[in-house]
Amino acid sequence: MGMCVTQTKTHLLCVIVRWTDRVVIATSPGQAATLRPDQSYWPYHRPGKGEELVSQAEVTGTRRDFIHYAAGGVGLVTTGVAVWPLIDQMNPSADVQALASIYVDISGVEVGTQLTVKWRGKPVFVRRRAPAEIEAARATPLQDLTIDNLAQNANKPGADASDQNRSLDEAGEWLVMIGVCTHLGCVPVGNGAGDFGGWFCPCHGSHYDTSGRIRKGPAPRNLDIPVARFSDATTILLG
Ligand code: FES
Repeated sequence: MGMCVTQTKTHLLCVIVRWTDRVVIATSPGQAATLRPDQSYWPYHRPGKGEELVSQAEVTGTRRDFIHYAAGGVGLVTTGVAVWPLIDQMNPSADVQALASIYVDISGVEVGTQLTVKWRGKPVFVRRRAPAEIEAARATPLQDLTIDNLAQNANKPGADASDQNRSLDEAGEWLVMIGVCTHLGCVPVGNGAGDFGGWFCPCHGSHYDTSGRIRKGPAPRNLDIPVARFSDATTILLG
């Protein structure tokens, strides 16, 4: 709490600063040293219980500190107010956050078929592979993956492109991939298409195998695998 009292007769400026239960009575520099408790500002304020009159040196230091702290505090608050809208606008909007993760019900997906869902604006293939597809994918030596030998699996960064590192479950029945060709972004066709029985992109002729790995054509990378996991036996959580 602060209070100022101006005395026209003596032209003294009295600054009173309350700091917890202590009151510091300060005057303008160079004049306070001559004040005594019975001088002119005294009728306006008498030290009460828990208050004390301090020396000019202490008053000057305390006042300067107070002004510095107050100015610093105001500066911080002003900067925070000015910067906050800039930071806040970088946060994703509510509708974007709502789409960041989705649950996919896979209870109706038959063996040998796939479900395509839209997630973050892209198609995602959720394929329940037949035993022959799994076998073909797992029998492929890593040396044959000459275009891209990395899993491109967000759940296993840096892992090699073995089928075990790309399928969602250990048995390899479920394969979840972003359905966007890594060449120029077309949506490949599936269900055994292409020279390797997986997916084929007709735009420029990229062939992906049953694990979604690029085997032939201009695409530089295996189909990407998004962050995904089973939330229960018949539901997959994307994102
Ligand atoms: S976009 Fe798929 S091959 Fe070019």
